Amino acid sequence: MTNQANPSAGSSAVGLRGVAAATSSISDVNGEKGELIYQGYNIHDLAKHATFEEVVFLLWNKRLPNRTELSELEQSLRASYGLPAELIALLKQFPREADPIDVLRTAISALEFYDPQSRDISREQSLKTAIRLTAQFPVIVAAADRLRRGLNPVEPSTTLSIAGNFLYMLRGEVPSERDVRIFDVCLILHADHELNASTFTARVVAGTLADMYAAVTAAIGALSGPLHGGANTAVMKTLLEIGSVENVEPYVKRALAEKRKMMGFGHAVYKTEDPRATHLRKFSKEMGDAAGDSKWYEMSRKVEEVMLSEKGLYPNVDFYSASTYYMMGIPLDLYTPIFAVSRISGWTGHILEQYGDNKLIRPRAEYIGPRDLPFVPIDQR
Ligand SMILES: CC(C)(COP(=O)(O)OP(=O)(O)OC[C@H]1O[C@@H](n2cnc3c(N)ncnc32)[C@H](O)[C@@H]1OP(=O)(O)O)[C@@H](O)C(=O)NCCC(=O)NCCS
Repeated sequence: MTNQANPSAGSSAVGLRGVAAATSSISDVNGEKGELIYQGYNIHDLAKHATFEEVVFLLWNKRLPNRTELSELEQSLRASYGLPAELIALLKQFPREADPIDVLRTAISALEFYDPQSRDISREQSLKTAIRLTAQFPVIVAAADRLRRGLNPVEPSTTLSIAGNFLYMLRGEVPSERDVRIFDVCLILHADHELNASTFTARVVAGTLADMYAAVTAAIGALSGPLHGGANTAVMKTLLEIGSVENVEPYVKRALAEKRKMMGFGHAVYKTEDPRATHLRKFSKEMGDAAGDSKWYEMSRKVEEVMLSEKGLYPNVDFYSASTYYMMGIPLDLYTPIFAVSRISGWTGHILEQYGDNKLIRPRAEYIGPRDLPFVPIDQR
């Protein structure tokens, strides 16, 4: 740890801000410069030139794949798309009104029952588990959405990439190249982000040498909160509530006056523009232009302008992903599961790294309670 526990109130122990709680070579965030790198590669280059599958290889193997390696990984992922029949039967039992992120968390916990090797955390076996999880996250999310709509899940297509297959299973028709490309880059942008809350959770659980399913299930729980992966859905709800560009300024000013947080703004590390938002802003515009409906993009721009002038806060990854997904016709409550569909690559990368050089993660708490109290018998209290 770089910071020692400090007994004074408001110390870095609160929220662990600025504390390095692990060493990792997977990704790094420079909050001052607004820079994000995966294994040494700038996120802007990866967004421009790589595919999500290439990034998955990078996060797991700490280097970019050659053509043969990429093709092997793609084949292994596609060969793992199919869900065990027992899991589909289980998904059918869940209440239709269940939140999809809770469905995903429960399904991943149950998926472990159908993997006889789940307890084997050797690197060789863990890579197989990582492939299975990364391949099946999107299949579970799409199947859960179809089932709650009273539709049969669409069989995954082994000719499609993770991005293409997800949109295909969700919609029941082959998506356009544009939608697949934009969605693929969205997956790249959300794939990893250093020691964010869910990744830290995954590492803490893996650090006990619990298996990958346990670590990932816990990570989904951490992601689901509105201060983390739940923010993207909240952003779209806010935009729908605001309703028009003219309403933006009074709405935001009132929210700030009432000390309410505007979801999709601010960041624990970035003090300038989140580099992922730069791409997502463009996608939000592109999707709006293509649909001939730029209202959500225009409103988002206005919210951004007011937030910057009123609070000096910049949009984070969740802000423009909301309107991008909305224009893709994706239901609001799938935005957080989609975050997980991408972040599973980073979680598994970090779990592999943790297993590879494990030390139980066991910090101390800065005790601020009383000491030496005399014990009072219960009927005298
Ligand atoms: C992400 C987040 C938790 C980071 O928090 P943090 O660095 O600990 O910052 P704090 O929550 O302590 O906020 C610091 C100040 O900025 C304000 N602030 C931070 N984010 C804000 C937001 N989204 N809207 C309004 N005000 C915000 C706080 O109210 C506080 O103001 P104050 O000093 O006047 O009280 C926070 O910005 C947030 O809650 N954002 C909204 C949720 C979100 O989009 N999450 C996704 C993150 S990728």
